[in-house]
Amino acid sequence: MPRAVVTGGAGFIGSNLVDRLVDDGTDVLVLDDLSSGSLGNLRDARSRGSVKIHQIDVSDNDVVGLVRDFRPDTVFHLAAQIDVRRSVADPAYDARINVLGTVNMLEAARHSDAERFVFASSGGAQFGDTFNIPTPETAERKPSSPYGVSKYVAEQYFSYYQAMHGLDFMSLGFANVYGPRQDPNGEAGVVAIFIESLLAGRNPTIYGDGLQTRDFVFVEDVTDAMVRAGRIGGSRYVNVGTGRETSVLKLLEVIVEAVGADIAPIMAAPRKGEQMRSCLDPSLARKVLGWEAWTPLADGIEQTIAWFRSREG
Ligand SMILES: NC(=O)c1ccc[n+]([C@@H]2O[C@H](COP(=O)([O-])OP(=O)(O)OC[C@H]3O[C@@H](n4cnc5c(N)ncnc54)[C@H](O)[C@@H]3O)[C@@H](O)[C@H]2O)c1
Repeated sequence: MPRAVVTGGAGFIGSNLVDRLVDDGTDVLVLDDLSSGSLGNLRDARSRGSVKIHQIDVSDNDVVGLVRDFRPDTVFHLAAQIDVRRSVADPAYDARINVLGTVNMLEAARHSDAERFVFASSGGAQFGDTFNIPTPETAERKPSSPYGVSKYVAEQYFSYYQAMHGLDFMSLGFANVYGPRQDPNGEAGVVAIFIESLLAGRNPTIYGDGLQTRDFVFVEDVTDAMVRAGRIGGSRYVNVGTGRETSVLKLLEVIVEAVGADIAPIMAAPRKGEQMRSCLDPSLARKVLGWEAWTPLADGIEQTIAWFRSREG
């Protein structure tokens, strides 16, 4: 039976990945401090497969022994401080979790003789504002927040571990991921925020003119890219996005139509430093992973709304 460690496995993307790994017959060890994730996200996976959970901070030295004892084939590292505004307010905290936590997980992976390390990176946050759209992997990295810097810095260790310890890696730069289990209170999820507002009959807020664009990719497509990266490897950075730009206004239109509640948005002042455009070129993922996002935005939105409704009922 293949074995995988998933850090951040109780969170939004991590728990969807655990579901997929369990479906594939993988034995899973989740390491999560439950700071934003929840055990409820893993209830279904635990009832269907072999999922052990250990509540621990990834920057804690004890993770090295835990991972060594589990002897995974693959380490999927998703645990992170994901709040951009918190990274601005407290860059040292952000670096402790996102940089030192990643180095700690790399140590754990090499001491356990894992074959591969798959990292949840961020495309949008690393490339910063750009007119090079859709942005290829070769574009200059100009992170505009400590969160983007920490993802970039953590990645610089991967080639060293590959050369020195033979640890193959794949760093996947996600676009804006959305889908079931995204936390509407988290700062990353505009889709979750809009859906929650509309279902509660509240007017959603748009900051600025709503013409800012993002590349919205469905979580099931993203976890498929992670599983492929875990199997194929190749020690490189690869974008995981759709290559399609969607404005925030257009996104709201799609959600309003799917919810069936015509509630006008509140237009608020633009947020300082907000990126205007973000969209990743997925050509390399097609080539090296045989992967392409397949869920149309309207279908992914339907599935996400269905999940929010099931939570209410
Ligand atoms: N959601 C997106 O659009 C997006 C985009 C780009 C990159 N990412 C990356 O994907 C990963 C998962 O993000 P998500 O959206 O699922 O967020 P999330 O907050 O739902 O998941 C993060 C998980 O990590 C756990 N965690 C946080 N700090 C920890 C620590 N110090 N030790 C152990 N566990 C810890 C949390 O409890 C949570 O379960 C992150 O690395 C994030 O940077 C997400």
